[in-house]
Amino acid sequence: MPRASRRHIVFSVASVAFVLLLTYTQAKSLRRQDVYTLRSTGRNGVCNCDNGTTEHYPVLSFQSVPPPGRRKLPRIQHRFSKNTAPQEDRREVVKQAFLRCWDAYREHAWLTDELMPLGGRGKDHFGGWAATLVDALDTLWIMDLKEQFWEAVEVAVTIDFSMPATDETGISIFETTIRYLGGLLAAYDLCGDIRLLYKAAELGDALYGAFDTPNRMPISYWDMTRATDGRKQIAKFQASLADIGSLTLEFTRLSQLTKDRKYYDAIARIMDAFAKQQNATDMPGMWPQMVDPNRMDFHTGSAFPIGAMADSMYEYLPKMAFLLHGSDMYERMYSTAVDAIVENVLFRPMVPDEADILMAGKVHTFLGQRPGLELSVEHLGCFAGGMLALGGRLLENDAHIDSTRDLARRLHDGAVRQRDLVRVKRDTLARGHQKHNITLPNSPGVVGNINGNAVSDELKLPVGMTSVTNKHYILRPEAIESIFILYRITGDTALQDAAWSMFESIQNATRTHIANAALSDVTDLAAPKMDEMESFWLSETLKYFYLIFSEPDLISLDEYVFNTEAHPLRRLQRGFWGFGWG
Ligand SMILES: *[C@@H]1O[C@H](CO)[C@@H](O)[C@H](O)[C@H]1NC(C)=O
Ligand SMILES: *[C@@H]1O[C@H](CO)[C@@H](O)[C@H](O)[C@H]1NC(C)=O
Ligand SMILES: *[C@@H]1O[C@H](CO)[C@@H](O)[C@H](O)[C@H]1NC(C)=O
Ligand SMILES: *[C@@H]1O[C@H](CO)[C@@H](O)[C@H](O)[C@H]1NC(C)=O
Repeated sequence: MPRASRRHIVFSVASVAFVLLLTYTQAKSLRRQDVYTLRSTGRNGVCNCDNGTTEHYPVLSFQSVPPPGRRKLPRIQHRFSKNTAPQEDRREVVKQAFLRCWDAYREHAWLTDELMPLGGRGKDHFGGWAATLVDALDTLWIMDLKEQFWEAVEVAVTIDFSMPATDETGISIFETTIRYLGGLLAAYDLCGDIRLLYKAAELGDALYGAFDTPNRMPISYWDMTRATDGRKQIAKFQASLADIGSLTLEFTRLSQLTKDRKYYDAIARIMDAFAKQQNATDMPGMWPQMVDPNRMDFHTGSAFPIGAMADSMYEYLPKMAFLLHGSDMYERMYSTAVDAIVENVLFRPMVPDEADILMAGKVHTFLGQRPGLELSVEHLGCFAGGMLALGGRLLENDAHIDSTRDLARRLHDGAVRQRDLVRVKRDTLARGHQKHNITLPNSPGVVGNINGNAVSDELKLPVGMTSVTNKHYILRPEAIESIFILYRITGDTALQDAAWSMFESIQNATRTHIANAALSDVTDLAAPKMDEMESFWLSETLKYFYLIFSEPDLISLDEYVFNTEAHPLRRLQRGFWGFGWG
């Protein structure tokens, strides 16, 4: 090649690179400008109130968000073929089901926390900050209901989070974080309207007040009035594992976006203590259901469930590793926990066809005795299939990954099968087959296949199930969540069919004249419904149903990590120029 043309090529390559660099730095500085504006509103690390109330126990040295790990994180999603089309008919039905509820909320309960789907009124019990509205923002965006989205954003950016709008004496830091903070952050990550980030930071600052205690552990049910009156506070002596252990994703994302490390610092103090005490419990690797933030005792206790009051603590461990783009600490915590869970908590119930299904129980330890497994299954435990699948991707190089992935699939089969189980008459089960007495989870899969109040006692319970401790189904998402994650990871289209029949069952059983309502008794669909439609029906359940029928790159698990309220937070992407926000 002649010298001149070589120089020409070098020059062209250099100028293309220069233009790219320029575009990149411009995009970067745009973000920085956002951050700058945010800072100039007058907040800083010590004062957390606009009116100058100072902290009693200020932090003297802050931990920063750790840099991305060196290892390239494994891909999560299945390599779907380029032309994998959405299942338009199905997702349109889901979208209409959502829209019907949204319109009902807008008409009958606008700006309240929740719609009452029977009475047609609103009610408040999450601080009165319009929980359903904030929780549903990103679903509106994802379902391409942009007009409704922007209408709701205009309202969301005016909410005053400095004080509850109700006379509640304590607000739940956990619920406020996963529903409101998660909702605002995800909406910002999707649409980029800086006002949503300001609002998230304002809420983050308000919540930060709950950490103003001598040991910086948060007060899980927090009296905001006391705090703003300037009175000193201490952390409670009891908190559930999930309440204190699953604030990590939202606070970390807030620090990433605002470049203010105080939010990350606040949760890092909690997680460092959990990491240190992980092997000191009666069930090493797991933490007890109730812990003591006041004394920072996170290991004394004898009940070790992975369902209610514990679930999102475990769920957030692999998710933090994904959000941070690799983290030795979270990867180690997760792999230690999952070993203990697989060994001690999962069990195989006896069912007539010897099907290989797994369910999650609850471990109890007793002084001087071998740990016992309480064989009760609950719907919240259904999230475990999704967690094991995601975690399986994370720990790719670990020797036990294959069995974990396999476990995840079998655990999920357990969730889906609960639907099938009810079809079998109880008396087809030979006596003695029933190795374990297990209770019926309030899975959405169960509803709809039981035919009204005509069912006999014999039909009311699925085979292998001996009692129902909680007959409610409150429109929970955990089963479809696991099925959605497994679908995105395995590409198995049978999961879409399973999801569709689950959706039809739920829709048939919970629809009211204006929206959808919780069931008081899944074994008797003629029983009166409850006048409740939790905000997670719109933020989680219907979102996962919509996404499983959508094209696989709509909210890809390789670009987003879902918080435990199904709010997608954008993950750091490793690109040609280093790390950015994809
Ligand atoms: C600061 O704001 C809180 C709530 O907004 C209020 O209760 C308190 O009196 C204010 N303090 C001062 C010094 O203005
Ligand atoms: C806890 O035990 C596991 C396995 O025995 C080990 O891999 C892990 O590093 C331990 N964690 C701590 C904090 O000591
Ligand atoms: C299972 O439940 C039945 C009825 O409640 C009870 O009689 C039986 O002892 C239980 N079996 C076990 C193994 O707990
Ligand atoms: C739900 O109801 C529709 C219409 O009544 C019916 O066709 C469908 O089979 C029902 N689905 C389930 C799972 O019950």
